[in-house]
Amino acid sequence: MTDFASIKYGEKEWIYPIIEGSEGERAIDISELRSDSGLVAYDPSYSNFAVCKSAITYIDGESGILRYRGIPIEELVKRPDFVEVAWLLIFGHKPEKDERERFRKRLTKNAHLPERMRHHFEGFPATAHPMAVTSAMINALSCFYPELFNSEWDVEFEEISAELISKIRTIAAYAYRRSKGLPYIYPDPKLRYCANFLHMLFSMPYDQYVADPEIEDALNLLFILHADHEQNCSTSTVRIVGSSQANLFASCAAGVCALWGRLHGGANVAVMEMLQQIHDGELTVKQYIEKAKQKDSGCKLMGFGHRIYKNYDPRARILKASCHRVLQKLQISDPLLDIALQLEEAALEDPYFTERKLYPNVDFYSGIIFRAIGIPTDMFTVMFVIGRLPGWIAHWHEQREDPTLRIARPRQIYTGPTPTSGQNCAEKI
Ligand code: CMC
Repeated sequence: MTDFASIKYGEKEWIYPIIEGSEGERAIDISELRSDSGLVAYDPSYSNFAVCKSAITYIDGESGILRYRGIPIEELVKRPDFVEVAWLLIFGHKPEKDERERFRKRLTKNAHLPERMRHHFEGFPATAHPMAVTSAMINALSCFYPELFNSEWDVEFEEISAELISKIRTIAAYAYRRSKGLPYIYPDPKLRYCANFLHMLFSMPYDQYVADPEIEDALNLLFILHADHEQNCSTSTVRIVGSSQANLFASCAAGVCALWGRLHGGANVAVMEMLQQIHDGELTVKQYIEKAKQKDSGCKLMGFGHRIYKNYDPRARILKASCHRVLQKLQISDPLLDIALQLEEAALEDPYFTERKLYPNVDFYSGIIFRAIGIPTDMFTVMFVIGRLPGWIAHWHEQREDPTLRIARPRQIYTGPTPTSGQNCAEKI
């Protein structure tokens, strides 16, 4: 039975169907609202707007649940394998043995950057932010592989996905090496996904870095926890850009820019700055909490709060446990972890945070693990990019396959001058 909702305005009333998702989420389908009534819906930050139907990721923010293709995140990190989860997100099921092997071969084959692309890195100043370099380089890929976008779509999609998921590691590693003035290290076809990335980051021509299995597992886990989060700011950006039929590389380059900001992926850097500030004695934990509560201070408790989660972010719960495990295994004692734990405890005892249902999010503990692995702070958001790429690809593809797709084109409520008021202004000048 189809449910309906009505919208009444003045003397008129319009009836709209209720659509229901597989987890029981309901929405009023108002796609005909403007043509029926001349009214548009106003919701500036999309707090209430479902912009698409999607079968990729499910979040229940009230209960703290996150599932990729129906599988709870807790299950996917038991034996963490990022490549397998990337396949799951993009193709909708866990890979069969032959699919897994084929995809791994494609990743290995595609790890190198074209030599001429390598020279692009030299053009950036050493101080260039790795997120700017990463976005530019992903976009540049479309110049080097135009044939991928002209050929049979279904045949090439797996290849394009592998190209991007594989090359992002090389781009990220080269951006880092360039910023440090270190020689580039080519990918090693014998290494698995995360070990190969760590090799490109940390090996020297005369000294091969060998990844500790614990570190490899921790990186797989981190990438998996970042791999998708339905219609967040960067994924929505990828979808919006893709809706104009821009290619996958161009759409993902835009996603990187959206992720960069401190309220989104850039929060993992902001958290470390906050912890360091407290560690350096600029503020105590208590003083920081008080400052974060004052709206005019321009300061927030970074790594806390979420548009969707009104409960503990399940990714943060896993990362907190992983933090303890990784640091213990690597025999590292990080004072920033102690400060993070104190901040969390103080916030969760404070009515400001509990009443607003503000809990640690994915960015609160991730940086401490990145740091233990040896990743420098300005690379943290690039690490988020590597993890999030399968999600962006999956959403771009899902949208592309949707026969009802139209270009994304929001409306606005115009509040500028009218011809009459505009004339008045001109006269005054
Ligand atoms: N510190 C202090 N106050 C906060 C915080 C915070 N971290 N987060 C939200 N609030 C306040 C906010 O000012 C508002 O107060 P009031 O009701 O008095 O006006 C109230 O809590 C509700 O905020 P909201 O409407 O739930 O926030 P939002 O959905 O507009 O923003 C957010 C979500 C994640 C941008 C925000 O919580 C924030 O800025 N957090 C810090 C940055 C951060 O950690 N970002 C990473 C997000 S998770 C990973 C990702 O997306 O990349």
